[in-house]
Amino acid sequence: MQSDIERVLFDGPAIHKRLEEMAAQITADYPDRELAVIAILTGSLMFVSDLLRRIPLPLKLDCLSVVSYHGKTQPSGEVICKQVAVPDIAGQDVLILDDILDTGCTLAAVRKKLETAKPRSIRVCVLLSKRKQRARDVHADYIGFEIDDEFVVGYGLDFMERYRNLPYVGVLRKELLEQPNQ
Ligand code: IMP
Ligand code: MG
Repeated sequence: MQSDIERVLFDGPAIHKRLEEMAAQITADYPDRELAVIAILTGSLMFVSDLLRRIPLPLKLDCLSVVSYHGKTQPSGEVICKQVAVPDIAGQDVLILDDILDTGCTLAAVRKKLETAKPRSIRVCVLLSKRKQRARDVHADYIGFEIDDEFVVGYGLDFMERYRNLPYVGVLRKELLEQPNQ
């Protein structure tokens, strides 16, 4: 698995240090409020688990399962929500957590869906954001790290469902991306 990684971008300690800062910022931004956290599975799993344990606010956690990639590295643009029911978030302060902001299609679709449930506010928090022109104009309120437009894996992020358990975020070797789908 390690040999498939071209280079490590953020190791475990670097990620955890940044999560401390993000958690402090979020905690300060929601004084005396209860957060309704919506985690987008599966890529955000590690991020959500490590970030939320650093936020000493009352909060509720719901997960949404969406599919946007269909196992490839290029987004299809189509976002399928596997979970049909929208969590009950009417009048609440919603914080959407996702692993990475790439084309913006996923977060735009999730945000639109959640807005129909009439929350009091919605903010978006991502571990990574790619510097690129996006298909959808999505604003992230909290960003862990900005990265170049490269395909990364680890710390929850996958390539064809693999590499999620790497304890760091790294760039996958390009030749692996070029292989036809198994
Ligand atoms: P978007 O809809 O294009 O913004 O993509 C969001 C989703 O695509 C993320 O939640 C990831 O699951 C996946 N994704 C985008 N870029 C990468 C990457 O570099 N590595 C792994 N997954 C990615
Ligand atoms: Mg994925």
